[in-house]
Amino acid sequence: MGLGGTAMFATLATVVAVVGAYLYQKKKKEIVPWTWEEVGTLKKLHMYPLKSGHRLELTQAECTKVGLTQSKEGDNSYQLKDRSLVVYAEKDHEFRTARTYPKMVLIDVAVHDADHLAIDTPTMRTLYVEIPSKSNSKEVSIKLHANEEIYCIDCGDEAASWFSRYILGKDSGLRLGYHDGSYRRDIRKAHKVDVDYYKNLSNSSTGLYSDLTSILLLNQASVNDLNKRIGNSSVTVLNFRPNFVVDGPDLAPYAEDSWEWVKIGNVVLRNVKECTRCIMTTINPENASRSSDMEPLKTLKKYRLSNGPSKVPIMGIHLEVKRPGSIKVGDPVYVAKSLE
Ligand SMILES: *[C@@H]1O[C@H](CO)[C@@H](O)[C@H](O)[C@H]1NC(C)=O
Ligand SMILES: *[C@@H]1O[C@H](CO)[C@@H](O)[C@H](O)[C@H]1NC(C)=O
Ligand SMILES: *[C@@H]1O[C@H](CO)[C@@H](O)[C@H](O)[C@H]1NC(C)=O
Ligand SMILES: *[C@@H]1O[C@H](CO)[C@@H](O)[C@H](O)[C@H]1NC(C)=O
Repeated sequence: MGLGGTAMFATLATVVAVVGAYLYQKKKKEIVPWTWEEVGTLKKLHMYPLKSGHRLELTQAECTKVGLTQSKEGDNSYQLKDRSLVVYAEKDHEFRTARTYPKMVLIDVAVHDADHLAIDTPTMRTLYVEIPSKSNSKEVSIKLHANEEIYCIDCGDEAASWFSRYILGKDSGLRLGYHDGSYRRDIRKAHKVDVDYYKNLSNSSTGLYSDLTSILLLNQASVNDLNKRIGNSSVTVLNFRPNFVVDGPDLAPYAEDSWEWVKIGNVVLRNVKECTRCIMTTINPENASRSSDMEPLKTLKKYRLSNGPSKVPIMGIHLEVKRPGSIKVGDPVYVAKSLE
């Protein structure tokens, strides 16, 4: 090779290196780490088919990009999805939650048959709802948190009057909306402040009608520490409505804050935001009574305030599903720091 050839080769090598470095920077956020540290096991797997409703305890599930879907072996019937149902008001089309109507936390949702859900509370007759579809029901625009606009498929008049009677004690006022999974949210406008501050939070982090992301993870050790601080407390992980509860003998309280990546089974998740907490945590998940002393919020406010845009207490982490897959209770939980 002559001098010209060497120079050309060197130039080519430089170009390759520069382009490579650029692409690496660009894709860095997406690169899944290859060194993982085991921190504990998946102790609980919870799904909330109705936003603000009662939890469904699962032993296994599919973890999709938009959150948990039930998976029952050999069962090809309809599978429930996390936060795929939402209650909204007839008059303003805004969503309603247990923050205003605590008794919503007692509403159970189950699959009745191939195309019906069975919805129950301790005090009402069972409601059977036909799973709606765009072709046979009307699509409605509703508003979630921060006036985020989102579509739902309305579940019909019988469901509307059942929910109105249970929640309001009236024949109308509320309606039930359903997400068929066919569209993804755009949070850039409504959640601009958060999207600007939390650099890894984006449209692709979102769940169906969850407040924000598809998965919420809680560390049992954090709740144990909180309870020590409160003293005589009836607060449990359930007050925080997690999808995943991680536990293990070596887990430090609040360790989850610094987990950038989490791997459970073949599922890989990214920590995209701390979970900022509200009045919802003060509602007892089993009897819907509000705590008389504002716990756990009162104690959390003393030592767990966010440094982010909202100065409210934090507990647990919001995860984005980077690699979907199957997950089951008892799976080891691995974490990794980012590659930087
Ligand atoms: C977001 O991603 C960047 C770059 O990968 C990382 O350095 C940062 O720590 C992440 N932020 C959070 C809150 O995970
Ligand atoms: C967010 O969603 C909007 C609307 O679907 C889309 O135009 C945009 O490309 C999305 N942005 C990201 C970062 O996913
Ligand atoms: C702890 O709670 C129980 C039941 O709520 C109550 O009977 C008991 O007096 C409380 N103990 C203290 C030390 O506050
Ligand atoms: C609900 O449960 C909590 C915790 O066990 C208890 O302190 C409270 O008194 C209960 N409320 C009602 C109305 O039963």
